[in-house]
Amino acid sequence: MSVPLLELTKVSAAYGAVKALHEVSLRVDPGQVVTLIGANGAGKSTCLKVITGLLPETSGQVLWNGRDLKGMPAHKRVAEGLAMSPEGRQVFPRMTVRENLEMGAYLRQDDLTQDYARVFQLFPVLEKRQGQAAGTLSGGEQQMLAIGRALMSKPRLLILDEPSLGLAPLIVKQIFSIIREIRSLGLAVLLVEQNARQALQVADFGYVFEVGHAVLSGPAAELSSNAEVQKAYLGL
Ligand SMILES: Nc1ncnc2c1ncn2[C@@H]1O[C@H](COP(=O)(O)OP(=O)(O)O)[C@@H](O)[C@H]1O
Ligand SMILES: [Mg+2]
Repeated sequence: MSVPLLELTKVSAAYGAVKALHEVSLRVDPGQVVTLIGANGAGKSTCLKVITGLLPETSGQVLWNGRDLKGMPAHKRVAEGLAMSPEGRQVFPRMTVRENLEMGAYLRQDDLTQDYARVFQLFPVLEKRQGQAAGTLSGGEQQMLAIGRALMSKPRLLILDEPSLGLAPLIVKQIFSIIREIRSLGLAVLLVEQNARQALQVADFGYVFEVGHAVLSGPAAELSSNAEVQKAYLGL
C-alpha cells in the first residue's frame, strides 16, 4: 500500500486537564476527500488543531507522508503543504480581499499568478471584489475568501473546518459544489462538517466523532446507509 498523505495513530490531546481527543486514528490518501462528522463538542476542531500544529498531541503520532510532525510549528506545516480554513472563517476584516489572499501565500517566494488564477476561477466573486475590505463581504463570500486564502499557500491537503456553518441553504450548496471542484483538481481535502448529509455526499471516506473518540469510520456511502448514522446525524 502507498504511504498515506496524512495519518494519525492513536492521537490524544487535551486543554489543560480536560482531555478532548482520545486515541484517534485516521488517514487521508492523496486526492481523497475525507470528512469528520459529529455533534458540537465532539473534538473535530481539536483534531484539526493537532494536525495543523496549533495544539500539541499528548500521545500518538501525526504522520505527514510518513514523517512524524511532532514539535513542528504551525507555519512550517503550512510550508509543508497543510493549509486550513478555520472555523468561523477568520478573514482579516480591514484588509482587502487581495491582501487576504496575499497573506495566504506569505511563506512563498515563487510566482503566484497561477494561484490567483485558480482561486478566481473557483470564486469569480473574489476577483470582482479584490479591492474591497474583507469585513464588508457577505458570510458566504468570507467563507470563499477563507478557502481561497488557504489555497494560496499551494497546499497538498486543504483542511476545512465547518465551511457551511451559518450560511443560507443556497450558499451552502455553492460551497459544497466548490469542494467538489477542488477535489476534481486532485487536491486532498479534510472536511469537518455538522452538515453530515452533504459532507458524506462529497466525501470518499468518513469518520464519526463522539466525545473525543472516532467511534465509527468507513467509505462515505457506507456511513450514509448505516442505521446508527442515519438516526443520529442524518435525521432519518
Ligand atoms: N480552547 C479550549 N479550551 C478548553 N476546552 C476546549 C477548548 N476548545 C475546545 N474545548 C473543548 O474540547 C471539546 C472538543 O471541542 P471541539 O474540538 O471544538 O469540538 P467540535 O469541533 O467537534 O465541535 C469540547 O468539550 C470543548 O468544550
Ligand atoms: Mg468545531
